[in-house]
Amino acid sequence: MIDRLRALGAAARQALEEAQSESEVEEARIAFLGRKSELNRISRGLGTLSDGERREVGRAVNQLKSDLKGLLEEAKSRVASGTGGAGGLDVTLPGRRPWVGRKHPLTRTLDRLEEIFLGLGFEVAVGPHIEDDFHNFEALNFPADHPARDEHDTFYVEGGGLLRTHTSPVQIRVMQTRKPPIRIVAPGRVFRNETPDASHGSEFFQLEGLYVDRDVRFGELKGVLIKFLRELYGENVGVRLRPGFFPFTEPSAEVDVECRICRGRGCGVCKGTGWVELLGSGMVDPRVFAAVGYDPDEVSGYAFGLGIDRIAMMMTGVDDIRLFLENDLRFLRQI
Ligand code: DAH
Repeated sequence: MIDRLRALGAAARQALEEAQSESEVEEARIAFLGRKSELNRISRGLGTLSDGERREVGRAVNQLKSDLKGLLEEAKSRVASGTGGAGGLDVTLPGRRPWVGRKHPLTRTLDRLEEIFLGLGFEVAVGPHIEDDFHNFEALNFPADHPARDEHDTFYVEGGGLLRTHTSPVQIRVMQTRKPPIRIVAPGRVFRNETPDASHGSEFFQLEGLYVDRDVRFGELKGVLIKFLRELYGENVGVRLRPGFFPFTEPSAEVDVECRICRGRGCGVCKGTGWVELLGSGMVDPRVFAAVGYDPDEVSGYAFGLGIDRIAMMMTGVDDIRLFLENDLRFLRQI
């Protein structure tokens, strides 16, 4: 019996030492230590032996079991490490980089715009997303039946409020609470009832600018906008002003920059014109001053509004505005 145990021990040791994988180690465990193993059978049969034999064989069985368990653990860790060298740790694997968060591309664009305008002496102001008809329309000289309202269809909330269609109502709120001189930019989310496509979303972002003082001239507006666009796109950027219409400015100008994609030669982004419309602007209409209780004969000013998403698209090369608000990390981590 003792010889048999010795032979079993030798066979088990060899099987465990030669095992190359977890499943081979497991096979050896079942064969030599499992319920149906010979060792287990001998162990269970100890009761049938004479007293003397039982003591001797019992001791040998226990010794063998504990030896085999030790060998089993060794074999397990050897196959787990692959190399057998570093105790289960493969020091040749490249480390795992922790994810590093960063700002959303729209936030990065906005930070850049704010930085430039702060450098030009503007302060940052904010207003509510849910506006009333007076701030979003009336005070900005959009009377109830004015066709300019058509472009500003939006979402109405119970009780007469609406989701603001532009950041211009912040002009009204600031002027209602402060006296000139005022020099602010107001960034934020705006809403429109749009059918979404690559360049339109029902939520997007604008940055409003307002300067009110005495004797403000159109030339100052032009100077500030050109300075801003040069800071953003470099000294050589082409800028042009075209006559435009907004109810709250008179005269009004649309401001285009030379297309960043084709450098003015004409491409799909600029629809072959070489220019991309970037902002609306103009001299504050006297009716707007009257609506906030300023004397239009005393004060004058300029205003402008630009689309942050469009600037972000040009800065990042993203060609579909809807991607910005889907919050898909597979997209956001690329830009
Ligand atoms: N509020 C206008 C819009 O959303 C943009 C705009 C145009 C703002 C001209 C201005 C401005 O301040 O002067 O369409």
